[in-house]
Amino acid sequence: MPMRFVLISTLLACVYAIIITDPTKIATDYDFVIVGGGTAGNVVANRLSENSNWKILVVEAGINNAGIEDVSVPFLGPDASPNKPWTWNYTTVPQKALNSRSMAYQRGKLLGGSSSINFMIYTRGSSDYWDAIAKWSGDPGWSWISMLPYFKKLETITPPADHHNTTGQFNPLVHGFSGPLSVSLSGFASELSSRVINTTFVDHADFKFNLDVNSGDQLGVGWLQASINDTVRASSAVAYLAPQFISRPNLHVLIQQQVTKVLFSTSHGTPAAIGVTFSAGPGAPTFTVKPSKEVILCGGAIGSVQLLMLSGIGPPAQLNAFNIPLVVSSTQVGQNLIDHPAVFNHFSVNAPQSLDQLRENATALEVAEEEYADEGEGPLVDTVSDTIGFFRVPSNNSLFQQFPDSSVGPKSAHYEFLWSDIWASFLPTAIAPPTGDFVTLTQVLVAPASRGSIVLNSPSAFEFPLIDPGFLTSDYDVTLHLLAFKSAKQFMSEKSWKGFNLGLAPDSANTNTDAEIIQYIRNNAVTLWHPTGTNRMQGVGANEDGVVTNELLVKGVDKLRVVDASVFPFIVPGHTEATVYALAERSADIIKTAWA
Ligand SMILES: Cc1cc2nc3c(=O)[nH]c(=O)nc-3n(C[C@H](O)[C@H](O)[C@H](O)COP(=O)(O)OP(=O)(O)OC[C@H]3O[C@@H](n4cnc5c(N)ncnc54)[C@H](O)[C@@H]3O)c2cc1C
Ligand SMILES: *[C@@H]1O[C@H](CO)[C@@H](O)[C@H](O)[C@H]1NC(C)=O
Ligand SMILES: *[C@@H]1O[C@H](CO)[C@@H](O)[C@H](O)[C@H]1NC(C)=O
Ligand SMILES: *[C@@H]1O[C@H](CO)[C@@H](O)[C@H](O)[C@H]1NC(C)=O
Ligand SMILES: *[C@@H]1O[C@H](CO)[C@@H](O)[C@H](O)[C@H]1NC(C)=O
Ligand SMILES: *[C@@H]1O[C@H](CO)[C@@H](O)[C@H](O)[C@H]1NC(C)=O
Ligand SMILES: *[C@@H]1O[C@H](CO)[C@@H](O)[C@H](O)[C@H]1NC(C)=O
Repeated sequence: MPMRFVLISTLLACVYAIIITDPTKIATDYDFVIVGGGTAGNVVANRLSENSNWKILVVEAGINNAGIEDVSVPFLGPDASPNKPWTWNYTTVPQKALNSRSMAYQRGKLLGGSSSINFMIYTRGSSDYWDAIAKWSGDPGWSWISMLPYFKKLETITPPADHHNTTGQFNPLVHGFSGPLSVSLSGFASELSSRVINTTFVDHADFKFNLDVNSGDQLGVGWLQASINDTVRASSAVAYLAPQFISRPNLHVLIQQQVTKVLFSTSHGTPAAIGVTFSAGPGAPTFTVKPSKEVILCGGAIGSVQLLMLSGIGPPAQLNAFNIPLVVSSTQVGQNLIDHPAVFNHFSVNAPQSLDQLRENATALEVAEEEYADEGEGPLVDTVSDTIGFFRVPSNNSLFQQFPDSSVGPKSAHYEFLWSDIWASFLPTAIAPPTGDFVTLTQVLVAPASRGSIVLNSPSAFEFPLIDPGFLTSDYDVTLHLLAFKSAKQFMSEKSWKGFNLGLAPDSANTNTDAEIIQYIRNNAVTLWHPTGTNRMQGVGANEDGVVTNELLVKGVDKLRVVDASVFPFIVPGHTEATVYALAERSADIIKTAWA
């Protein structure tokens, strides 16, 4: 939904104290160096700097997040990328199962990382998900029951911008009320949300209501929780580098410097990480920093993979191809890339109050801007959806005679729905019609069987690697998307939608036969930007080789960890940010214990 406007607002003014831009001004006596001030990096930096005896340096490639309107105003989330001065502008290789389309594969390149440009949808996954990681790694510390305290620790449930009564819209017993990250329900009531929720009460039994999809039991339809504080985005920078934290004298954050290599001691025995080199860009001076305890990579599912390989840890053939000296052979670096393909289905609706007015009517947009700036209310306080649903394909479906069930467990979804009160799309070809009112029902494959990879394309840290999410390369995923589409059409034809849903919009209309639906899916599937698994944890079973241990130490070397979305062995049935926050919280405790 391309939309461009300028809000005259003082809400964006922010005070940041100790952010360093001059690399000659950093200290020499750090205990820990954290690579990447993104979602996970700032959590680890915050928690480790609670120990005033430890000195922490974060090195972030991107810029400061403060004061960027597209990054702060929730409704503008889709405008925060791609191709901004604060994004990594990656592109996938042509996706053969998507009729050879490539797509933008953005990541945040600023403080907060991707949590500063994402859509703020806050989902913890299911108890099955965390229990499956515990089983895979042999570490009960990753189980749902062990991780729930970390979810509570990281959150503050904050009243929504419209201060409506949220009783019956979430379960307070499973949430936290004093953590750094603000999480909130929708702050702007729409007729659409009311209709979605009503469908669960008056219509089909498949679409049951779920009081809280973040309780461990995720199945059903409920109110969406989002990382928003009243009217503004809550990112890991806003939350974990808030003034009271960034002002700690033992926490230094250096920005606009990209780490190009991890340095190892090779004098005797196991190589140990002794420092990193960094630089502002090709041709700019290179600096070195050597912490006494650990280097912690928080560069994300793409950045950490590229950095490991450039530093000599990866599949030997790939490193040889670029004459990178091998430090440790680690064949899973860059493998096991898992991501969520989504299709944005558009329905024409009889809803003159839909948010399409904001893109069609300049006066309506001005009114909304004023409401936001003057009163902190209106449609701009929310992200792209207010409700969310998680669903399974029934176990007697013939799909499961051909393929094993890909879900992480019986209480976990195969696919997800999101509803938007506006024409939403991330396909350059699916341009919004100039007039009309629409509902976008986004179907997301949250348990894909397909796997992809990231491989080096250059020995330079400033050239992008080749990214292949392998979308829909498993026929199982194609069938799941087909079933999800039929389910979406069924949802929208329930009784509560009579007179409101006028039918599929022209771009989604040629979908009468299975073959047509499959063609539509191949032409329209896009990423939800959830790359996961590219430095996966070691498993206890055969054929479960990994890059990091259950405590996220890089195998084969000392004093080096990875803490970010790359270490998950499977992808969450849901969106990834909440899982990264919780992972980082536990990792900080693991590191504190290791150095106690
Ligand atoms: C457009 C978009 C929408 C999304 N929507 C949602 C959503 O609604 N809900 C949800 O849950 N998830 C969403 N996600 C996914 C989610 O935001 C990510 O999974 C999560 O933030 C990843 O966290 P991370 O810590 O692994 O990496 P990141 O947050 O990406 O952090 C990595 C950081 O490291 C820095 N870095 C990388 N390499 C280097 C280097 N060599 N030197 C120095 N710094 C480096 C980067 O600049 C970045 O700041 C979305 C993602 C995108 C891009
Ligand atoms: C992404 O594109 C924008 C706009 O062209 C540019 O300013 C930015 O530097 C690019 N980012 C990277 C990492 O190349
Ligand atoms: C919110 O609604 C619930 C249930 O309808 C009611 O019990 C409660 O008193 C209300 N809270 C406030 C603050 O009005
Ligand atoms: C939300 O924002 C308010 C106002 O800036 C601030 O006082 C509060 O601490 C924030 N909440 C969280 C959890 O950060
Ligand atoms: C949903 O149901 C409630 C309660 O029955 C009703 O007040 C409301 O008007 C319904 N919403 C829509 C959009 O039909
Ligand atoms: C545009 O929006 C304004 C403000 O909401 C409204 O008064 C006007 O009727 C709208 N125009 C059209 C053509 O819908
Ligand atoms: C699967 O089971 C359900 C309910 O038990 C039944 O209604 C449905 O017809 C079955 N479907 C198939 C394909 O057997």
